[in-house]
Amino acid sequence: MKKLGVKTIIITNAAGGVNPSFNPSDLMVITDHINLMGQNPLIGENDDAMGVRFPDMSEVYSSEYIDLIKKTGDELGIDLQEGVYLALTGPSYETPAEVRMARTLGADAVGMSTVPEAMVAKWAGMNVIGISCICNSAAGVSTVGLSHEDVINAANKAKNKFKTLVVEVIKKL
Ligand code: HPA
Repeated sequence: MKKLGVKTIIITNAAGGVNPSFNPSDLMVITDHINLMGQNPLIGENDDAMGVRFPDMSEVYSSEYIDLIKKTGDELGIDLQEGVYLALTGPSYETPAEVRMARTLGADAVGMSTVPEAMVAKWAGMNVIGISCICNSAAGVSTVGLSHEDVINAANKAKNKFKTLVVEVIKKL
């Protein structure tokens, strides 16, 4: 994508809400992430033409774009949450103890994607925007168990506002 000239990447995902004030179908602007995937996508020989060996990750999700998404949400009347996304590999959902750990570590949402893509895009000098669809309260945050079907249903409920938001954001890039 970088080589094709893409300057800004919008990464979206489904995530579990770790922050107890989040509800299914909320949208969360990602302000930062925690990589607990046990892997770093930049391990291996560095391609110096793409990015530096030790890239700065102090602002993966640029504040300028976070502000743009929030402003766009305001204009459209779409409520947005914001917070830190913590990535685990999955494919199982987390245990309640893992979700408590995630909260203790400062996460607001937990999921199984996005972080490797965001890190590589940042390394390559692209602007990174991340938006999570909170599809369920993460394990133990609410008393109900998790099912993939509930996750899909919540995503479907959020679909239209998510699409509207992303389309409007793209117009402003
Ligand atoms: N955990 C991890 N990934 C997810 C979840 C979750 O609770 N919901 C949707 N994707």
